[in-house]
Amino acid sequence: MTAGESHWNWRAMPMSKDFKNKADEPRHIFGCGTLSRIEDIIKGFSPARIMIVTDKNAYSKTGLQARMEKVLKSYESICFSEVSPNPDPESLLKGSQTVGNFKPDMIIALGGGSVMDTAKLISVLPADRERMLGIIRGEEEVPERQSSLILVPTTAGTGSECTHFAVVYDGNKKYSVASWTLLPDKSITDPELTAALPEKAAAVSAFDAFCQAVESYWAVGSTFESRQYSAQGIKLFNESFLSFVKKRDRHSCENMMRAAHLGGMAINITKTTAPHALSYALTMNYSIPHGYAVILTLPEFFVFNANAPESLLNEGVPFGEHKKRMKELCQLMESDSPDSAAARIRQAVESVGFAVKLSEAGIKNRDDIEKIASGVNLERLENNPVRITKKQIEEMLARIW
Ligand SMILES: [Fe+2]
Repeated sequence: MTAGESHWNWRAMPMSKDFKNKADEPRHIFGCGTLSRIEDIIKGFSPARIMIVTDKNAYSKTGLQARMEKVLKSYESICFSEVSPNPDPESLLKGSQTVGNFKPDMIIALGGGSVMDTAKLISVLPADRERMLGIIRGEEEVPERQSSLILVPTTAGTGSECTHFAVVYDGNKKYSVASWTLLPDKSITDPELTAALPEKAAAVSAFDAFCQAVESYWAVGSTFESRQYSAQGIKLFNESFLSFVKKRDRHSCENMMRAAHLGGMAINITKTTAPHALSYALTMNYSIPHGYAVILTLPEFFVFNANAPESLLNEGVPFGEHKKRMKELCQLMESDSPDSAAARIRQAVESVGFAVKLSEAGIKNRDDIEKIASGVNLERLENNPVRITKKQIEEMLARIW
């Protein structure tokens, strides 16, 4: 793909009723310097009232605020920056109330996954607490978006700019709100924006991009198209992860941002699997950042999924096809076995100064393993190609504790 193009079949996706851009414009714009097009893109929608959703620190420190203020001076605008690192009902309610009071006809998110997910959610969630919770819990339908939505990722991680879902952390429960109305009208993925990321944040976001690509490849819902996105994302990660974290040169920023975008396109088709399902307990209870929480168990699941017998496969994946996919994943990891692929993943984690043991990642008490395993909703693991029991999860966590 070249800058400005996307394999994404954007024409098949619904756009907000306010969409007035040229019909041949892609939904997802990619490339260094593409943020400079935001002024023209905004004009294409003819908004009057624009709401910015962002992370206060990143917005001011990266120079984004100064750039956006120049663009926004022709419009009535407001900035909402009370975004939670793990979007929860309280922060979303504040955001929805701001939307309800200000009534923007355009919402622009500039930030990482939490910022983009928050913008997606508050563009549809009502400011009424009970109704909002009903929608988050899947008891009520997601309403149609009333404003246009532009997403600008500043990390190379979640690929949230091209997914139709958003995650909410409610106490000990994690919900994924899904609706095609959550897809943005436009996304602008400008790799230059990752240059200002702190090293740890760069690593954590890249972990997420990689895990999403790998999980999507073996997911029950994997398709030929999603595996193409995943495979390309994994190759780009292998090529550029280390230099992206350590140097953040233009080439590695482009590659990692592309990998994240491709991972997002892949899980938009397949959704994620077991390592993501397990990660939410680690993030909510031990404050382990999302991408790191996912990659901690990914090597274990790589081996577990690859070695599973036919009798343990979830419905929807023929055994031969599953074996083929796991073999292809090993090849993508330039490894001759699942064990060596797992070792390569652990090496990548350690190469940027992160521990691979749970005890060193923030889970001090070994007895917590049972609690973590109990907190995983096994029914939610049906997208993992292989069935897994609570006991097996406990054994897995014990091995990496
Ligand atoms: Fe993720």
